[in-house]
Amino acid sequence: MTQRMTRPKLTLQPIQPGEIGQATAMATVWNAACGADWMISPQFAASATRPPANGCQAGRLAVADGEPLGFVLASTRTAPPDGPTWGWLDGLAVTPAAQGQGIGRLLADWAEGWLAEQGCRTVQVGGGSRSLVTGLPTELESQPFFARRGYAKTPTEAEVWDMAANLAGYTPPADLPAIPGQVRPAHPGDAAALLDFVRRAFPDSWYPEVAEFLADGGRPSDFMLLWTERGVDGFCQLTFLDSRRPLNRFYPFRLPQPWGHLGPVGVSADRRGQGFGLALVDAGLRRLHNNGVNGCIIHGVSRPASLARFDFTPHRPYARLQKSL
Ligand SMILES: CC(C)(COP(=O)(O)OP(=O)(O)OC[C@H]1O[C@@H](n2cnc3c(N)ncnc32)[C@H](O)[C@@H]1OP(=O)(O)O)[C@@H](O)C(=O)NCCC(=O)NCCS
Repeated sequence: MTQRMTRPKLTLQPIQPGEIGQATAMATVWNAACGADWMISPQFAASATRPPANGCQAGRLAVADGEPLGFVLASTRTAPPDGPTWGWLDGLAVTPAAQGQGIGRLLADWAEGWLAEQGCRTVQVGGGSRSLVTGLPTELESQPFFARRGYAKTPTEAEVWDMAANLAGYTPPADLPAIPGQVRPAHPGDAAALLDFVRRAFPDSWYPEVAEFLADGGRPSDFMLLWTERGVDGFCQLTFLDSRRPLNRFYPFRLPQPWGHLGPVGVSADRRGQGFGLALVDAGLRRLHNNGVNGCIIHGVSRPASLARFDFTPHRPYARLQKSL
C-alpha cells in the first residue's frame, strides 16, 4: 500500500513585538538562510520587532506543522500630515529546505500589501531603523527574486558598502585640515545639546533614532560631539560591544576582535565641506583605537573612496533596491 503524502498547511502568524519565542524562530530561519557571516541572535531579532520610534511595523511568520519556515518584517515611518509614503522590507528569509516553493513570494506579497494599506507608495529592501540589513547583501544572491517582483536599484544610491579597517595601528591621516572647533566625547550633561542639534540638523533621519537610544538608557558617551563657537555643530555615534545599540546590526564577524562601529556622522548643513566631518571621523576612530577596538566597520557608505584616507577598504556591498507600490 502506498502512503499518500499530504503537504502540511502553511499559516502566516502575526509577529508580536519583542516576543522571544517568535524571535528565536526568526533567528533560526535567518541563520539557516543567510549563513554564519549574517548570524543574528534571538535578542537582536526581538529588538528588530519593536515598533520604530515614529512609525509602525508588522510581520508574519510562516509556519507548517509547528515548524517555522520563513518570516517577513515590514515597517513605515509616519510623516505627518500626510502619513507614510515610504516603507521598508526589514527582513525576509525562507529556510533553505523550504525555498523554491512560493513561500518567499507569499511573504513578500503580504508585506507589500500591508505597506500599501498604510499608504506607502515606495518600498525599499533594508535600510530602515528596524531593518536587519541596510540593503540587499550582494553575496546572498537573492537579487533575481526581487527583480522578478519589480524591484530595481535606486537611481541615486544603487549600491552602498560596509567599509572596514583594523584599528590596531590607527594613526590620524597626515593631511587632516585644522578646524575652528573641538571634538569631544559627550558627557551625560550634554544629552540635551546633542538632542537639540540632531532635531535641528537631521529631524527626519537621525533625530528619532538618537532620541530613542537615549530614552532607552543608551550612554551619551557613545557620541562624539563637535563643538564650535555656536555650540554643538556635529556628531558621530560609536558602537562598542557593551553599547545599547547592538553591534550585531553591523555583522562584524569576519573582522579581528574586539569589534566596534562608527556612524552615523553628521555636520550642520552650512558647515559641510570644511573638514569638520573628517575631524569627527578621526576623533571617533582614535577613541575606538584607544579603547582596544581592532575590527571596525563603517556601515552603509555610498562613496567608499571618501574613507580611503583612513585606510578603510570595502568589506561588503549591498544593493539598494526599491519598488513603487
Ligand atoms: C529570497 C528568498 C526569501 C526567496 O524565498 P523562496 O521561498 O525561495 O522564494 P519563492 O519560492 O517564493 O520564489 C519566487 C520566485 O522567485 C524565484 N527565485 C527565488 N529565489 C531566487 C534566486 N535566488 N534566484 C533566482 N530566482 C529566484 C523563484 O524561482 C520563483 O520564481 P517564479 O515566480 O517563476 O516561480 C530566499 O531565497 C532567502 O531566504 N534568501 C536568503 C535571505 C535573503 O536574501 N533575504 C533578503 C534580504 S532581507
